[in-house]
Amino acid sequence: MSNPYISGTGYYLPPRVVTNEELSNFMDTSNEWILERTGIEERRYVESGVGPSDLAIPATEQALLAAGLTVKDIDFIIFATSTPDYYAPGSGCLLQEKMGFGEIGALDVRVQCSGFVYGLSIAEQYIRTGMFKHILLIGAEVQSTAMDLTTEGRDTAVIFGDGAGAAIISATEEDRGILSTHLHTDGRYVKELWLEAPASKAGHPRISKNDLDEGKQYLKMNGREVFRHAVTRFPEVIIEALKKNKIEQKDIGLLIPHQANLRITQMIQKKMGLRDDQVMSNIHKYGNTTAGTIPIALGEAIEEGRISEGDIVVFASFGSGFSWASAVMKW
Ligand code: UT7
Repeated sequence: MSNPYISGTGYYLPPRVVTNEELSNFMDTSNEWILERTGIEERRYVESGVGPSDLAIPATEQALLAAGLTVKDIDFIIFATSTPDYYAPGSGCLLQEKMGFGEIGALDVRVQCSGFVYGLSIAEQYIRTGMFKHILLIGAEVQSTAMDLTTEGRDTAVIFGDGAGAAIISATEEDRGILSTHLHTDGRYVKELWLEAPASKAGHPRISKNDLDEGKQYLKMNGREVFRHAVTRFPEVIIEALKKNKIEQKDIGLLIPHQANLRITQMIQKKMGLRDDQVMSNIHKYGNTTAGTIPIALGEAIEEGRISEGDIVVFASFGSGFSWASAVMKW
């Protein structure tokens, strides 16, 4: 049976930098507040007309180059996004056409911040069964257009940004790659972090003038409640993954947690007794790009030489759903 490993990575951030100072022009906030509560210094926003499938193109090109592959080699596309270009069809279909992939399957995964890890788990199964040899896995988001850029939306708006990461999951006979993945959801907390409209269950039309006036088109978050669950679920799902593989905390080469808030990452690090060099953080530059954070951070970690062959790399995520997940890899 083949093992699934990451043969190439890439990432892309739109060029427009939005600083905390700039946000304070639209809403009652400050650089100090944002920095102290989240660790974020700036994030990137797309220009209008740009969707996650557009951001995914340069990320994919980079990943293909790193893997020494071309579009012809890819057997399947998994596109993790909670902010698809359109309600239908999925962003994976758009990417297939834009990059000239063959008539391969394209699957959108909507598990918000955990989308990339869920996608990794799906790719793992296809590679292990021998169905596919090379799978393109994307995590890409355009969150800026779901932000209420007024004081009313400030608790959520200052956190999120746009960006895309890509990874090629390939088959190998070597003793390396994904060791296990762990997936969880608790739907009791759907409304703690959600985007309510447009909605098929809203009737005709799927979004009304009233919904717009109430701001239902914006992402809404109960920050304190999300934070409280995140700092429990992250360590829990990481430990679950380590136990499954009989790996100790000290043996983690690099933990790449979903980048939601620097304070959350620091609390995970402290609870798990990890050193600074064992934990990846880049939230100060990009904010929270939802499904994009892990593949973007992975791409940067590789560029910075923080991952070597044979290292144990752990991914962990927590977000809207609530959904949380982890994956362990031997690099
Ligand atoms: O990726 C998905 C997962 N998402 C997360 O994991 C996010 C988890 N939550 C968080 O990161 C934090 O809860 C936030 C950063 C969203 C908020 O930080 P907090 O320390 O929990 O602040 P808070 O919501 O308790 O608000 C504290 C105060 C409030 O004022 P009062 O009621 O104490 O007077 C807020 O109105 O800060 C106020 N506030 C702000 N002030 C300036 C909230 N947002 C802002 C803001 N600028 N942007």
